[in-house]
Amino acid sequence: MGTLTNKRILLGVTGGIAAYKSADTVRRLREAGAEVRVVMTAGAAEFITALTLQAVSGHPVHQQLLDTGAEAGMGHIELARWADAVLVAPASANFMARLAQGRADDLLSAVCLATESPVAVAPAMNQQMWSNAATQANLATLKKNSIGIFGPAEGSQACGEVGPGRMLEPTELVALVSDLFASGELDGLTVVVTAGPTWEAVDPVRGLTNRSSGKMGYAVAEAAVEAGARVILISGPTSLPDPERAHTIRVESAQEMHDAVHAHIADADIFIGVAAVADYRPTQIAKDKIKKTQEKMTLDLERTPDILASVAALKPAPFTVGFAAETENLEQHARQKLATKNLDIVAANRVGADLGFGTDENSLLLVEPAAVTELPMQPKARLARALIAHVAARYRAKHSAKVHTLRRP
Ligand code: C5P
Repeated sequence: MGTLTNKRILLGVTGGIAAYKSADTVRRLREAGAEVRVVMTAGAAEFITALTLQAVSGHPVHQQLLDTGAEAGMGHIELARWADAVLVAPASANFMARLAQGRADDLLSAVCLATESPVAVAPAMNQQMWSNAATQANLATLKKNSIGIFGPAEGSQACGEVGPGRMLEPTELVALVSDLFASGELDGLTVVVTAGPTWEAVDPVRGLTNRSSGKMGYAVAEAAVEAGARVILISGPTSLPDPERAHTIRVESAQEMHDAVHAHIADADIFIGVAAVADYRPTQIAKDKIKKTQEKMTLDLERTPDILASVAALKPAPFTVGFAAETENLEQHARQKLATKNLDIVAANRVGADLGFGTDENSLLLVEPAAVTELPMQPKARLARALIAHVAARYRAKHSAKVHTLRRP
């Protein structure tokens, strides 16, 4: 998986000769794992065709703000919500001026104004236009408004001059876009995450399992990596590839998951149990395939170890987060779990027909002793980032509180 796996990047292309590099930027963003949609200004269309950018992005290019057809499909608000980050590359002097003013008179400027996600620009212009006091004043405004400024580089320019104003190369832009997601909230911490189902063998070909694709747990592991943590992902059987930069350990049964967790938990600052662990396993595993000779058969089952509760019971225990998949009375069941398993947070989600399992979207109710926080329905990758931001904040609060207590005379 790439560093931008599951990220939705909206690439804005404005009018400048560097627009010819936009097709390469799209391609490299996609190589890094991102899904890319392109918005072009009218000026950009003078330099590169929408057809080229449609072909490399795999999606129609968005160009019109006031077009009933476009607004009925994915209009400016949908695009603004869709994007995990907006990169405007190349960003012309004119576009920077309009962004600094907060204009919304074309699709790209309207999307930049309407999005909650990070916005970055990669300036590209003649060196004199870059150095002009008006552009520099706009630049200062953009920085003040938390717009990321990628570049520009110095060097020879299409106009024949030499100086600052060259757009950064697409590979450099991709690296900087990846950095937008690196929050640093979990810098220096170790996080252990469980994910996926477990498989409790009945015989060599049959077993008991739970419905779980592993998508949520893997997204949580990836979000923790992005936040700067060292991540150990302990996963039951899934069809997902190992997340990049996490140490992934594959297991089958609840017992194996339990043992792998406890082999690594001493180093963990935070434990997040996302796995759908089977609650029961056969007391005996048949050595050979069981033949269907009887009309009825009974399986003798015993409880599996409760991994989450066993971690929360450690002294000292890491900051412990459990998941609760419920079909009803979400908060009540989550609160019970919080108390009986002695957890810091329970992330509860509603499951049932078409909800939660294998889908790409989910919502969570974060239940804590003195707070309830709702994370609304959104793609699992984004939901996982919101969960990690919440966990990081609570972890820091708990630990700084401890430091204060210790320091009190
Ligand atoms: O008690 P319940 O199974 O509903 O709790 C769900 C939470 O407990 C999840 O976080 C799950 O990963 C964890 N769990 C566990 N070991 C088990 C059963 C559940 O870690 N044997």
